[in-house]
Amino acid sequence: MVLRNRIEIIHGVNLDQLGRRDAEHYGGLNFDELELRIARSARELELVPRFFHTNHEGELVEHLHRLEGLADGIVINPGAWTHYSYAIRDALELAGLPTVEVHLSEVDAREPWRRTSVIAELCIARVSGKGPEGYRDALARLAAELSR
Ligand code: DQA
Repeated sequence: MVLRNRIEIIHGVNLDQLGRRDAEHYGGLNFDELELRIARSARELELVPRFFHTNHEGELVEHLHRLEGLADGIVINPGAWTHYSYAIRDALELAGLPTVEVHLSEVDAREPWRRTSVIAELCIARVSGKGPEGYRDALARLAAELSR
């Protein structure tokens, strides 16, 4: 049983448009279906997920500011912000929680600019290119971390 089990699942810019985005990279699920899958995986791992999505960078920054005492770990897919948002990077550092970075697509096998992640150094792990299953791997990694 994981006692610290509250996981904030954070989706950044354009992730709400899944289902309309290039299926070759992102698969066929829409956003609601993705979140249902993540919720199921979390339940199986005895984790309690809470979901947040925004297309506004400042909102994500403020959400991270407010997480203190409300979450034990973070799974984050910042979308394109991954590659350049030092504001989100600094807010994630302030949140100070074990974090796993997730990407549906294999970012390292795409355009060169997607190979940079400004949050990677703050994360305990990164999962990329595994589609929705990648979120399960991320949650499992956090469960292991939180039960140590
Ligand atoms: C993404 C990869 C990013 O490069 C892209 O901008 C996204 C989604 C992924 O899940 O594969 O919006 O984070």
